Amino acid sequence: MFPFPVLWSWVIMAVGSTDAAASLVEQRPRWVLVRRGQAETLHCTLRNSQYPWMSWYQQDSQGQLQVLASLGNVGDKEATSLPGADYQATRVSDTELRLLVANVTQRRTLFCTCSEDTVRCPPWISD
Ligand SMILES: *[C@@H]1O[C@H](CO)[C@@H](O)[C@H](O)[C@H]1NC(C)=O
Repeated sequence: MFPFPVLWSWVIMAVGSTDAAASLVEQRPRWVLVRRGQAETLHCTLRNSQYPWMSWYQQDSQGQLQVLASLGNVGDKEATSLPGADYQATRVSDTELRLLVANVTQRRTLFCTCSEDTVRCPPWISD
């Protein structure tokens, strides 16, 4: 039997990071290898309550940046499916935004951010 190329069956998900001591959010883990098709949970912790909205973004292997979810209230959830991964974001507390990344087949970088407000257009306003 031909040896299975093990490295190809894993997908690296990097998690954006800056100087942890200076940043308003902290992401865990910093990077993770996921078996192709498997799931991983990422955690983002908010350090400054002046910025109550928390968001996850993905940057795909082509460099495109997309917002996955922006959640401001405890209990809020948002599911998004993009090529190469399915996401479920949950605002589990005032200080934590969790991201389940499932069915992963492509490398990507995930960024957590916080903001005072959200710039996403509410559905009742047309652009
Ligand atoms: C992963 O894929 C399976 C099969 O398509 C689907 O049922 C499941 O909902 C997906 N997971 C997530 C978190 O979307």
